[in-house]
Amino acid sequence: MENKQNLMEKIVALTKRRGFIFPSSEIYGGFSAVYDFGPYGVELINNIKKAWWRSMVQTREDIVGLDSAIFMHPKIWEASGHVAGFSDPLAECKKCHARIRVDHLLEEAEVQADEKMSEEEINNLFNENKDKTKCPKCGQSDFSEAKKFNLLVKSNLGNFTEDWSESPVYLRGETCQGIYVNYKNVLDSTRMKVPFGIAQIGKAFRNEITARQFVFRTREFEQMEMQYFVSPKEEMKEYEKLREYRWKFYLDLGIKEENLQWHKHENLVFYAKEAYDIEYNFPFGFKELEGIHARGNYDLTQHSKFSGVNLEYNDQKNEEKYMPHIIEASSGVGRLALAFLTESYTEEEVNGESRVVLKMDKRLVPIKIAIFPLLKNKPELVTKAKEIFDELKGDFMCEFDDNGNIGKRYRRQDEIGTPYCVTIDHETMEDASVTVRDRDTMQQTRVRIEGLSDYFKEKLNSYNA
Ligand code: GAP
Repeated sequence: MENKQNLMEKIVALTKRRGFIFPSSEIYGGFSAVYDFGPYGVELINNIKKAWWRSMVQTREDIVGLDSAIFMHPKIWEASGHVAGFSDPLAECKKCHARIRVDHLLEEAEVQADEKMSEEEINNLFNENKDKTKCPKCGQSDFSEAKKFNLLVKSNLGNFTEDWSESPVYLRGETCQGIYVNYKNVLDSTRMKVPFGIAQIGKAFRNEITARQFVFRTREFEQMEMQYFVSPKEEMKEYEKLREYRWKFYLDLGIKEENLQWHKHENLVFYAKEAYDIEYNFPFGFKELEGIHARGNYDLTQHSKFSGVNLEYNDQKNEEKYMPHIIEASSGVGRLALAFLTESYTEEEVNGESRVVLKMDKRLVPIKIAIFPLLKNKPELVTKAKEIFDELKGDFMCEFDDNGNIGKRYRRQDEIGTPYCVTIDHETMEDASVTVRDRDTMQQTRVRIEGLSDYFKEKLNSYNA
């Protein structure tokens, strides 16, 4: 069994070394809790988003997409409850002055705090368990009182001209508010009828107090959210369907069921009917990957109230009017990337040597086919390899590589999860065939150049998310 701390360090090192994930602003000393996705990272997250979109929009007649703006009217965040209640409790260590999230300190002490607790409630729980909590920096147990800090990130957009200039404009804290406020536009402009969903992928921003665990919790991140509008009677039936659908999404993309678990929220916010998270077995333990919540009619009721626009649905089929209830599926792209990297990271012993390979689903890997001339100093092999690269690159994400010996090139591609490597050698010039090497079995097969594209279409087509 891989030492968990070790595994995390190996993933962080591999993703940096191989160009998946870089700390933000590194040459300036870094920028806390923000990360950049490098050349392979951007392919990986694009493929994750593509798989999600395919599952949530393309293959669903009852769900449409949206791309709403990051900036929205400040009142939206009042209506949603974020201005008043979107906060984390923070305490300061009196010895080393580190600022630490109290719910995390309690979690380390195996005491569960509820994120909806008031400042007073969290302080009571903190006081009851103070002897069990320790500063992770200096090990002391002497803390200030917990104070709640709002997580919304403010901007200064337009606050010199507009009539709402008294209120700050926030960078959105979650993408779903853009869905709620466009629900009526979508209804009026499409043929969607309740039950139906709106899906969106986009950036969200939160003033996370403690930056922890790599891309698991960042201050700028991308969310993939789908909000499903249902009649009150259908809410729980649709909720169960969505839970099952989302669970299968992860299994289909290669996550082992033993690495997933449901976490049921015990202390629900007043409007919620039920809330579950899908947790993944990250190197630091089972933690939330995605939230699937039955939210009642809270969101549209609040936006009706604050905007003055009636958002009730006129159900002509059943001759009734109601405020649609909402069930949501909400996940983070970075968290999924970390989950897929964790799941696929493999170390193997091959002929006495260790091999690191990402055994990741072919739909998600950054590069599908790598193309190598066996020798760099043989122009005819390089020219042929370039020709093959040019032929395949329109259909598949390919990479040409003539650097180093062939063993090194295989190792590099294994580390980024490339499922197929094509080598052009001396025999190629005689029999117009190439060697195709399979990432997982490492078996090598001779394939004729003429049918190469079709060969890969068959191998990869069903994998093109
Ligand atoms: N609209 C509901 C909502 O935003 P959430 O539990 O706060 O709920 C949903 O976030 C998902 O977004 C989480 O399950 C996680 O995957 C991702 N997420 C939330 N905060 C994040 C952060 N600071 N960094 C990375 N991902 C985050």
